[in-house]
Order: sequence, then structure tokens, then C-alpha cells
Amino acid sequence: QLPEDSTSWSQDMVRSTLPERTQDGHKGTFGTALLVAGGPDMPGAALISGLGALTSGVGKLEIGTYRETIQSIAHAVPEATYVPDALVQIANGSHSLTSYKAIACGPGTAPDALTEAAIDKLLKAPHPLMLDAGALSARSYAKRSAPLILTPHAGEFSRISGYSIEQITESPGACASAFAEKHDLTIVLKGPRTTIAFPDGERFQNPTGNAALAKGGTGDMLTGMMLGMLCCHDNWRHAVLNAVHLHGACADEFIKTRSPHTMLAHDIAGLLPEVWKHYE
Ligand code: APR
Ligand code: MG
Repeated sequence: QLPEDSTSWSQDMVRSTLPERTQDGHKGTFGTALLVAGGPDMPGAALISGLGALTSGVGKLEIGTYRETIQSIAHAVPEATYVPDALVQIANGSHSLTSYKAIACGPGTAPDALTEAAIDKLLKAPHPLMLDAGALSARSYAKRSAPLILTPHAGEFSRISGYSIEQITESPGACASAFAEKHDLTIVLKGPRTTIAFPDGERFQNPTGNAALAKGGTGDMLTGMMLGMLCCHDNWRHAVLNAVHLHGACADEFIKTRSPHTMLAHDIAGLLPEVWKHYE
């Protein structure tokens, strides 16, 4: 039986670790992110995670998705550029991955052989990589130099780890840390109190968030926010922790004046500018 207590990633910790946007910075300073997301039946996942990345400090955002998805979301995310048929291009090696500061894959992506083939290539890239939703599978992970961050909810974590939902609910911290240490990666185990377990055994619990977040799309927003934060932070651990904290803090801000039944995932991107400012 491993200990279950985790340090809270507090407001003060967020305050002291959020990066400045350096006065003489240009879009190259903050880096280009690649977001592989969305599919023919889930175009909204690319839209929502794209908004999350763009509001979270990225310099430039490239969204890799299906041609028909580009048509349906480009008007809503005009700041991004697009990589058509990205999974195919990444899987067959025709899309270069060298220029990115961070990469995320999975929101709205089908968990199929093409996605797996693309992930094999993404894992070989020398950048921080996040895998979420359709990119989460029971697989092995070869040693890589850059951070690997998985963002499962309890059901996804059960699927990739073999722990039962009961075990995960009973001991989320111990399960997340054991898996993180075994596979040398970071687990963001999402739920009412999200646990962040790093590969060296360090572990935090997020103190923010509420049931307004219990609605499809909020996880996609978190993936995008974390991708953006990975671009504007020097310290990738702080990026992961601050993304989870601010995502929840936006929902906390929402319910100060509005019913928790009514929040939409993309409302978070609208709340983030003021919420983030409170921490600066
Ligand atoms: N309190 C605080 N935070 C919460 C709560 C709660 N009661 N419920 C959910 N959250 C937060 C989680 O911590 C996480 O950050 O909301 C986010 C939900 O993320 P996901 O579970 O990934 O949800 P999302 O992907 O947006 O939508 C669910 O995923 O597995 C599929 O089939 C599933 O279509 C569904 C989709
Ligand atoms: Mg999800």
C-alpha cells in the first residue's frame, strides 16, 4: 500500500511559476505547437483544443486534422494554420516534426491503427509530447529524452494501465505514481481532484475546479491549454501543473455568477484571460 497524500499545487505556486511574456519576444520566442486533433465525426475537439492552445501562450499553432475538419473549423480558429491529413503524413514520415516546441495528439482522434502509427513517429520526436483521448492506448513506451505526458480520465487510465476503476478511485495517487514511474512518463489523472504524477515519484493534487467541468469538451480544452503552456513555460512541469490549475480556476470563476449546469467547454477560453491575470 503506497501513500495516497499529495501536495496541493496552490495559488501561490502558480503565481511564482507562471512565465512573463518577455517584452521583446516575438512569435518565434514562444514556439510553434502541433496539435493533432479532430476527426470527421468530432471536428469540435480540434476547435476546442485549438482555442485552448491559442489562449495559453503559444507563439504559433498548427492544427493537424482531416481536410473536411479544416473546412468546418477554420472560421472559428483563424489564428491557426493547418496540416491536412496529418495522421497520414506523420505516420508515413512526410511531415517533418523538427520545428515544434511541443506536440499534442488525441482529442477527437479515432483510436485506430493509423493513430498508433502516427504516435510511433511522434514518440521519436525530441519534443515534449502529450497524448490524450484517442491517442491513449495500452502500449509500451521506449525511452525518450523529452517529457511524455498522458492525460487520461479514470476510464482511460483503467484501459491503458490495467488497474480497475475501483482501484483507481480508491488510490488515484498511488496508481498514477506507480504507472508514471514504471513507464518513465507523467500521468495527469483527471477527475474532480486531478492528480499529477511525475516519473520521479513527485506528485501533486489540483485544488481548483468544480462540476461545471463535467461536460464533454472540457478535457479537450485542457489538452490545448497544456500544449500552449508547454510553449510559454521554460519548466515543463510547471506548464503541466499550471494548465490544470488555471483550467479549474476558470470553472470556479464561472460559477461565481452563473449556474454550473450551463458552462460550455469553450467558455473556459473566454474566462482564461482574466483568471490568468489574477495570478500575474
Ligand atoms: N469537478 C472538477 N473537475 C471535473 C469534474 C468535477 N466534478 N468533472 C470533470 N472535471 C474535469 C476533469 O478533471 C478534466 O479536466 O473536466 C475535464 C474532463 O476531461 P475528460 O474526462 O477528458 O472529458 P472530455 O474529453 O472533454 O469529454 C468526455 O471523453 O472518453 C471520452 O467518451 C468520453 O466523449 C467522452 C469524452
Ligand atoms: Mg477526454
